[in-house]
Amino acid sequence: MNTQFDAIVIGAGAAGLMCALTAGQRGLRVLVLDHANKAGKKILMSGGGRCNFTNTGASPANFVSANKHFCKSALARYTPWHFIALVERHRIAYHEKELGQLFCDDSSKQIVAMLLAECAHAGVEIRTHCTIERVEHTDAGHYRLHTPQGHFTSAALVVASGGLSIPSMGASGFGYQLAKQFGQHVLPTRAGLVPLTLSGKHAERLQDLAGVSLPVEATCNGVSFRNFMLITHRGISGPSILQISSYWQPGDDLRLDLLPGIDGAQQLADWQRTRRDTELKTVLGEVLPKRFAQRLCEHWMINKPLRQYTPAELHAIAELLAAWPLIASGSEGYRTAEVTLGGVDTDGLSSSTLQSKTIPGLYFIGEVVDVTGWLGGYNFQWAWASGHAAGMAI
Ligand code: FDA
Repeated sequence: MNTQFDAIVIGAGAAGLMCALTAGQRGLRVLVLDHANKAGKKILMSGGGRCNFTNTGASPANFVSANKHFCKSALARYTPWHFIALVERHRIAYHEKELGQLFCDDSSKQIVAMLLAECAHAGVEIRTHCTIERVEHTDAGHYRLHTPQGHFTSAALVVASGGLSIPSMGASGFGYQLAKQFGQHVLPTRAGLVPLTLSGKHAERLQDLAGVSLPVEATCNGVSFRNFMLITHRGISGPSILQISSYWQPGDDLRLDLLPGIDGAQQLADWQRTRRDTELKTVLGEVLPKRFAQRLCEHWMINKPLRQYTPAELHAIAELLAAWPLIASGSEGYRTAEVTLGGVDTDGLSSSTLQSKTIPGLYFIGEVVDVTGWLGGYNFQWAWASGHAAGMAI
């Protein structure tokens, strides 16, 4: 059994496989270790089983990081078009769903099969079911990994063990622990792209509307996302809420424009002129889901025939419709989050190679790093780009 490698990659996920195949293609002897029972489990479950593998509009503006410039170099050198070319070479059919989001026509299994085929072709060895018990940095500057499957040594060690989301899929805090072991600073982590929960009267007022969805523009901390919101049994979800969740922390002001793209004040004035005897809940039920409109009128607005509203009352209703305050109590957490915000501090890494600035041969790529994308294929694009950057640099 060969135990000496040029590079060992911890994590056979999106970033790890991309790094391994890139380094393998350059003629390096690469070993990938993963404690899960198979490679690419998150890819398999992604995009509802069809893997939203990239976004043609991906740019640094679509990522959250303490250093918004850090992701630029890797993203510029491995673009969505590079990954699309790879997908096309493997004859995987795909389509654009919306806003540049590319999905497999058939199954995300094809993306994993493609990455594994590229790894096999490049001579990469992959070991699953492999728990890493200990990592040593030897006096000779090598990395020695102790596992029940044996000891493995390499000149370069790439940490691609992902974040904390969906622990049932093999997610672990291993990468953060390893970073700390080597003196790398780790920023606090929290769940991102995650449904938000409501409690108390906020939950009671909406709970029985679970399943109702409507377009909204969610705004928090100066960032807005316009898309659907879904009311759930425990709170709110849907693309606009998942997106804004990455910018929200408990206590932050979260506002929803319930009539995005509509001038509410003008609309109310028109209704008051043309539908004088109609009640507010009826007209609102024509532009919002009926039950939701009714609930708004029960708890947040006074319902009466439109002719009875004073200009000041109509103004207050328009303001409420444009910036409805929603007090979320928390998030569903890592159990359902798509990603982990925070992680290995980019201050300690080179943005062009993803190598530690202080420990030679140590690399961090993918979600373990403090770079988190929006919903819509951006996170995989970061995994491919950071994996490629490290794979070229090792
Ligand atoms: P990833 O999590 O993919 O891989 C890490 C690997 O390390 C895993 O194989 C894990 O088993 C292994 N590992 C962890 N700890 C270890 C240890 N101690 N020892 C050995 N191995 C260890 N993004 C997107 O762009 N489009 C999409 O459609 C979706 N859809 C989606 C759906 C769902 C349900 C989730 C949870 C997430 C998404 N994402 C997504 C996000 C995307 O899956 C995520 O950002 C990437 O998989 C991150 O790639 P990494 O390689 O960094 O980690």
